[in-house]
Amino acid sequence: MYIETKVIHTGREVSLFTGAVTPGIEMSTTFERGDDGSYPKGFIYSRLHNPTRNLLEQCISELEVGTRAAAFSSGSAAIMAVAQALEPGAEVVVPRDVYHGTARLFREIMIPWGLKVKFIDFSNIEQLEQSVTRNVRMIFVETPSNPLLKLTDIKAISGLARKVNAVLVCDNTLSTPVSQRPLSLGADLVIHSSTKYLGGHGDVTGGLVVTREETNFFNRVRFLQENGGAVPSPFDCWLIMRGIRTLPYRVRAHSDNALKIAEYLMGHSKVLEVFYPKLTGILKAQMALGGGLVSFRVKGGVDEAFSVAARTKLFTRATSFGSYESLIEHRASMEGDETTVPDDLLRLSVGLEHHKDLIDDLNQALTP
Ligand SMILES: Cc1ncc(COP(=O)(O)O)c(C=O)c1O
Repeated sequence: MYIETKVIHTGREVSLFTGAVTPGIEMSTTFERGDDGSYPKGFIYSRLHNPTRNLLEQCISELEVGTRAAAFSSGSAAIMAVAQALEPGAEVVVPRDVYHGTARLFREIMIPWGLKVKFIDFSNIEQLEQSVTRNVRMIFVETPSNPLLKLTDIKAISGLARKVNAVLVCDNTLSTPVSQRPLSLGADLVIHSSTKYLGGHGDVTGGLVVTREETNFFNRVRFLQENGGAVPSPFDCWLIMRGIRTLPYRVRAHSDNALKIAEYLMGHSKVLEVFYPKLTGILKAQMALGGGLVSFRVKGGVDEAFSVAARTKLFTRATSFGSYESLIEHRASMEGDETTVPDDLLRLSVGLEHHKDLIDDLNQALTP
């Protein structure tokens, strides 16, 4: 079945009680026990399981072609659970240019907790091969990376992970299952910040973990979800499900707009460098669309980058991405001292406005 059909029909059943076509929101925190003390409908308490959360987990699991999923209250909570599912003392390999919140989480929470984390340049295959030693228990991939939009060959890395029996985790937030299915390319787990394209309307924070197979590792993630308790509310799950219904069309439109903007920026005399995924060679088979993020460096340094961002009218100056509206962000000042991003770099989250209006806006901001 095509993804356009799957997103409409997965996790959506007409209500047996009311005939309602749109699924409702099950807000109840607790569920009635039978005379014999059993739980006849399978639900006990909403931190453990909730009917609306179950629908979202079933839906993302089908879209990523996995077997099970666990929903969290944010993408960071999802990453935290995956990291904590390791034993203290385990080694983890993480890309040097991973999303800065993920780097901070590993550096400032998981290293003191007991993980040994190596931050590696994933484009340097030799260095990467040397770092994946027998003690490595997890390789964390983010492709494309945020905000430098570097691509990593998931299949090749999965070969390295298999050799040492490490879990391969892929953050698929930027691509979404519309464009890239890491589990089919050898990843064991997929992570999403559903705050971004899955939610799609800038009004809900969430995270998801999907597993390719039933494993003890995933059971541990599930245990951390249920007992750590960083779960999304039923309303949040419902909003993410609503966003997912239109995901394929939105991702295509974001990507079309972003590609046109990247091409425009490449030809502009005030632009030093443009970052947008180049879908060539093996990576073309991995990823169908370039996505909605474009980063670029402005000639004239940090002050000029701030001035360009200040002059845009349709791009709002704000962090995050994946919503229908366009955003512009001076990334280094947002990430702080540990940033790996040049200080003249602006990141665009290209929205669903008409691309010509967005290009006109960038044009007046670059050459006032
Ligand atoms: C690639 C990536 N992964 C994870 C996260 C964290 O998600 P959240 O903000 O929902 O905690 C983000 C946030 O920007 C992100 O860009």
